[in-house]
Amino acid sequence: MANVLYVKVNPQVDEASFSTRLAQVFLDEYQTANPNDTVTTLDVYKETIPLIDGDVLQAWGKAGAGQELTAVEAEKVARMNELVDQFLQADKVVFSAPMWNLSYPPLMKAYIDNILIAGKTFKYTENGPVGLAGDKKVVVLEARGGIYTEGPGAELEFTQRYLRTVMGFIGIQDFQLVVSEGMAATPAEAENIFAKAAEEAKTVAKTF
Ligand SMILES: Cc1cc2nc3c(=O)[nH]c(=O)nc-3n(C[C@H](O)[C@H](O)[C@H](O)COP(=O)(O)O)c2cc1C
Repeated sequence: MANVLYVKVNPQVDEASFSTRLAQVFLDEYQTANPNDTVTTLDVYKETIPLIDGDVLQAWGKAGAGQELTAVEAEKVARMNELVDQFLQADKVVFSAPMWNLSYPPLMKAYIDNILIAGKTFKYTENGPVGLAGDKKVVVLEARGGIYTEGPGAELEFTQRYLRTVMGFIGIQDFQLVVSEGMAATPAEAENIFAKAAEEAKTVAKTF
């Protein structure tokens, strides 16, 4: 019985979001193939995702020096610990997100800042950083208005390349992408493009 964490990174209403719809197709197929697995949803636009701000930096400094944290500092650090522990407890992680301005929405970065924690998901060694979370599988279901898997846009693809690199940094090599792209470039084809991506999502879900 696997523990699946679904990290949803999109404030758009579900029906109007290609990436959320893609994730729904993926998760439906996954649950059919794995009825006993548990899927927990983390909607980063609805739940508290602390930013690394002054409180957090203060708290980290104080913790190193054995000093007492303020209530606000303690609360933020506790939530960060909760998020990294939730990530570590997952056997499989499913992300869904749009491309926004050649990147992911800012709460994707905020979430990543919560799970890239030295001593938890990676450690420093004499030979450089080593990932500690390598036992997981990750898939990202992504939507992009333009085309970035080929052609002139390929050089501007920083989204899955970023997430793949970050996951590799914490030891995760089993990383897959299912993308629906070009819907804004050819709106008349949008639903056909999505339907093809949805078929791919189903195929990946069966063996994820
Ligand atoms: C704020 C914003 C920025 C966007 N930036 C890009 C972009 O840089 N490149 C692109 O191809 N599409 C861009 N788009 C289009 C979205 O990637 C596209 O609409 C996609 O379907 C959004 O995902 P969703 O349908 O899951 O919400 C942007 C859309 C928004 C709302």
